[in-house]
Amino acid sequence: MQIPKRGLSRDEVFERLEEYRQDDTPWREGRTWAYVYDPGEEAESVIKEAFASYLGENGLDPTAFPSALRMENEVVAMSAAHLNGDENVVGSFTSGGTESLICAVKAARDHARENRPGVETPEMVLPETAHASFHKAGHYLGVKPVVVPVDATSYRADVDAVRDAITPNTILLVGSAISYAHGVVDPIRELGQLALERDLLLHVDGCMGGFLLQYFARLGSPVPDYDFRVPGVTSISMDLHKYAFAAKGASVILYRDKNLRRYQMYACSNWMGYTVINPTVQSTKSAGPIAGAWAALQFIGESGYLDFTRKVRDATQEIVAAIDANPDLRLLGRPDMNLLSFASDSVSVFHIADEMKEKRWYVQPQLAYGTSPENIHLSINPESVRWTDAMLADLAECTERAKSMPSGELAPKIQEAFGHLAPKDLSNDVFENLLGMAGVEGTSLPGRMAEINEVLNALPVPLRERLLVEYLNVLYRS
Ligand SMILES: Cc1ncc(COP(=O)(O)O)c(C=O)c1O
Repeated sequence: MQIPKRGLSRDEVFERLEEYRQDDTPWREGRTWAYVYDPGEEAESVIKEAFASYLGENGLDPTAFPSALRMENEVVAMSAAHLNGDENVVGSFTSGGTESLICAVKAARDHARENRPGVETPEMVLPETAHASFHKAGHYLGVKPVVVPVDATSYRADVDAVRDAITPNTILLVGSAISYAHGVVDPIRELGQLALERDLLLHVDGCMGGFLLQYFARLGSPVPDYDFRVPGVTSISMDLHKYAFAAKGASVILYRDKNLRRYQMYACSNWMGYTVINPTVQSTKSAGPIAGAWAALQFIGESGYLDFTRKVRDATQEIVAAIDANPDLRLLGRPDMNLLSFASDSVSVFHIADEMKEKRWYVQPQLAYGTSPENIHLSINPESVRWTDAMLADLAECTERAKSMPSGELAPKIQEAFGHLAPKDLSNDVFENLLGMAGVEGTSLPGRMAEINEVLNALPVPLRERLLVEYLNVLYRS
């Protein structure tokens, strides 16, 4: 494809975009149970307009665009107050959960470099439910993830396992509120106590749950403590583009005090151009996301968030009850918020997900890892709750239908043929062979995903990761 010789008209541009969208997941109808956080049309239009009105302002230089600085300071202040931080709590606005976690890990690493010079290979202890972005941050920043098992029933972090994993190189402990995979809050009080005893930093990943859990607690749900009221918590990440319903590109990273945040920042005067001073990873950045996030908090307000919380809480309870009542499905852990996952001992969950797709629902398959079997994840949205009964009826029907489909038959063949391979042995031939077994041809996206999920599920983790990288590497080309 080439840039058109003559630019298209405005109408042509939008017509094309609508055409491109045809195969996307139908989130606007509320039938998508992951990835999308939809506050409804009215709030969306306000957020969109605020975002678009700040599209061109550059958040790179707060002195040139003081309004961007002001919005950021206000969003951070509202977030800190929301998480019961005192006047010492500071933070930064970032592009998302991953950037917030990269900032938290960088702050911990550079804090250790200055204060614990004996640590040569820094480590962070990650319960196996900690988000993949910690691994990515560790990979980028040279901090070794030390993964420890979680409780096999509740899927909450096991504090004894965390304690046992601490070494003289440990610089950071991590807990989630909530974890993505199972939607549960880790025992943050106990982790805080451990961090204080061992003089370590503790980051709470509230990217998914930090915001809405406060409202769950206010409505009487039994939410374990996880915010700045917990002694020992030194930083918290909280995404606004998830359950604060801001437009994507919006998260905050908060620190108990500005001494720690200092280590997150970066300055460079070591070149011929303007001096670079970046609080976070990005440099030039649109002020659109901060304006969108500011507008979301202002427009929805506490009463709006409480209404959303009531809706998603009630729908979650209904879904949990339906899963508990279905002998083929098994809830994994007990959700503390409005995210949950369920497995099956009798049916392939990958086929259930495909069958649901045929009925125009999107539900998210998750692969087996450690004590968590392959499962289906649901994130429950205010705009989806009107579909709860219909979705549950289809889920029951799809589960029945999936009973007649193969379950786990590919796994032994895959393990026998490929299980022994090291990632570096994944030659083009092996790659194509694996994709062929998964029913994937060329670069087209497969209609059904059950086979590819089963192949991935059967492979050892390093090979899974390598296969996915190879696949992305062919997918992203014209
Ligand atoms: C608990 C948790 N942490 C971090 C992230 C990463 O956030 P993002 O996808 O915004 O980078 C997610 C994403 O779902 C999450 O659920």
